[in-house]
Amino acid sequence: MTQDVRIEDLKENLLDDRISVCGDEQPVEQLSVQKGIGEKKQWLRKMLEESSSPSKILYVDNKPVGQILYYPESSIPFLKDPDPKMLHVRCSFVHLAQQGKGHGKALFKSVVNDAKTQAKYDRLETVSFDPPGCGLSQTAFWKRMGFKERPEGEPHELEYLINGGLTRPRKNNPRRVGEKGVKIFYEPTCIFTHQFSDRIAEAVRAIDPNVSVEMVNMWEKPEMAKRRALVKGCVYINGKPMKHSIFDGEEFKREVQALLNPED
Ligand SMILES: CC(C)(COP(=O)(O)OP(=O)(O)OC[C@H]1O[C@@H](n2cnc3c(N)ncnc32)[C@H](O)[C@@H]1OP(=O)(O)O)[C@@H](O)C(=O)NCCC(=O)NCCS
Repeated sequence: MTQDVRIEDLKENLLDDRISVCGDEQPVEQLSVQKGIGEKKQWLRKMLEESSSPSKILYVDNKPVGQILYYPESSIPFLKDPDPKMLHVRCSFVHLAQQGKGHGKALFKSVVNDAKTQAKYDRLETVSFDPPGCGLSQTAFWKRMGFKERPEGEPHELEYLINGGLTRPRKNNPRRVGEKGVKIFYEPTCIFTHQFSDRIAEAVRAIDPNVSVEMVNMWEKPEMAKRRALVKGCVYINGKPMKHSIFDGEEFKREVQALLNPED
């Protein structure tokens, strides 16, 4: 039986469909994910009002099963000197049972072959990541789609050219500031962000139950992120940016301990 496949630009009335693509196959009942969903919807609405549609949804027989998320670098409020010709591709996801059938490629091609994309942008960038349990690797997929590693970049910093040559990725050199306590800088672009922020807060409180922990939405408070020269999410402890992420396990815990108790 042939399937009916269609791709739609995100609009206000499709917000729930868009969220369901990411939420359907994961447990979303936890409070942290509910909070992530609320913030992501707010962010998507703002993008629809102030920028351009930041996502496309792929439907199979009227069920939303795939998405691609992207936005102009110029819409990122905390970056210094944004490149007006750069489009960021944040992520793509196709439901597990629908992977490997050409849907991811169709979504990407509908972004890159869009006349608006061709007219406005010379390049697309992505920082690829491969979370466990999500199926085929995004990194392998983006490379198959024509993304290349960038000069002086990390292996997961990839660029796709429409015009011109490869460019260097922005370096993340967060500045130290004079302050006490913990600040978790995050982007509201993923419904699962708060799950990780909450785990970070938990790890910090396990070492010092009294320390103040503040969550900072970098799109809502861009000046705070700009002052620190942040180009992506970051955890600050007593004014110092952390080098390890929550995914680094013991090393992360050791760094938290060292920054909370520098005299130990
Ligand atoms: C990556 C993803 C979007 C690709 O979508 P898809 O519908 O499964 O991929 P397609 O069927 O369109 O494949 C497109 C091409 O990529 C190739 N490809 C896909 N995944 C690949 C992989 N892991 N390795 C090598 N090639 C791959 C296919 O062979 C095909 O190539 P071709 O048409 O040139 O022969 C999808 O598999 C997915 O959602 N994976 C999980 C991604 C993820 O972790 N997202 C973040 C979650 S928050």
